[in-house]
Amino acid sequence: MSQVKRIGVLTGGGDAPGLNPAIKGLVYRSSDHDISVVGLYDGWRSLLDPAPEALALDREMVRRWDRDGGTNLGSSRTNPFRTTNEAGERVDRSAEVFENIERLGLDAIVVCGGEDTLGVAARLSEKGVPVVGVPKTIDKDLAGTDYTLGFDTALRNVTDVIERSRTPAGSHGWVQIVEVMGRHAGHLALWSGVAGGAHLILIPEHPFRYEKVFQHLRARLGDTTGITRDPLRPRYSVVVIAEGAYAEDGELVTIDDRHDAFGHARLGGIGEVLARRIMSETPYEARAAMLGHPQRGGAPSPVDRLMGLMFGARAADAVAAGDFGKMVSARGIAPACDLSLVAIEGVLGKINIVDVERYYDAERYHLKHIGM
Ligand code: F6P
Repeated sequence: MSQVKRIGVLTGGGDAPGLNPAIKGLVYRSSDHDISVVGLYDGWRSLLDPAPEALALDREMVRRWDRDGGTNLGSSRTNPFRTTNEAGERVDRSAEVFENIERLGLDAIVVCGGEDTLGVAARLSEKGVPVVGVPKTIDKDLAGTDYTLGFDTALRNVTDVIERSRTPAGSHGWVQIVEVMGRHAGHLALWSGVAGGAHLILIPEHPFRYEKVFQHLRARLGDTTGITRDPLRPRYSVVVIAEGAYAEDGELVTIDDRHDAFGHARLGGIGEVLARRIMSETPYEARAAMLGHPQRGGAPSPVDRLMGLMFGARAADAVAAGDFGKMVSARGIAPACDLSLVAIEGVLGKINIVDVERYYDAERYHLKHIGM
């Protein structure tokens, strides 16, 4: 058993529903172990502050947090190993993180994040900082776990929009393109597309061909404008596309040319590119909706609440046992799931993408084996 008395918790990277339940689970279970918890603001950023602030978290404070979406501690994409100074130069400020951990009297840190945030945790862990990770990302692309916080709520949100995009598209006879998040992985696009009844689903794991998309649209909508008065014929089509999807003869579409501290470009716009191609190369009208950040917004779903509470509690047990450098990992999803710990180091650099062979029909651009 470790002699841990006081720990910090932080949430980094894109916010996700399920983070606040995880903090509640951590605080409640830590109190069973007589460990006090403080919240660190805005991801790694607060640990670079010359006068870092910490929020005392006890049962009373977090009692209602399991109902809250986003993260009540705030988040950022700060990378202490690669900050930018006023002259625009890259600077490693990780030494300040150590000083602040000391200054705040923390015996360990629980880090809730995805590949990037946990990557920082792994590097700090190598240098002796006791850390425990909690997996989070609506992309569900982290290796070593079946579940990452936020995925289920985002799936619900996106499915709902796909469903609601059907009525304007049907009324006007459009091809409605719904662009969803998913930088490297198409889990969110594929499963929301199936649940929402989309006709075509385009994912980063399988570069698509414009000509094949057009053929599928023609097969559904016919050769003329697509607008029919036959009540039995479809007048519209819904295409779900992940922001990280790209054409065989195309490239990733980005919002601008800026990169974050982890070197990622901001993806977005492939849906609009596809809509323009449809309008110039087929008889059909097309509209694109980029769902953006609201798709990870709102209160956590029951699955995200349950997984968050359990992940947080398991992280507290890991801290109490002195099991550091590990990430909580799920086999299965609540309510039927088992939690264990895996080495953070071992999950990095192994993105969990859609198993195309198993799930994706690369001819129909849809889920395999369901006849859609
Ligand atoms: O990693 C989660 C995610 O939501 C990705 O799907 C998306 O590419 C990215 O975050 C968006 O970045 P930001 O939240 O910084 O705009």
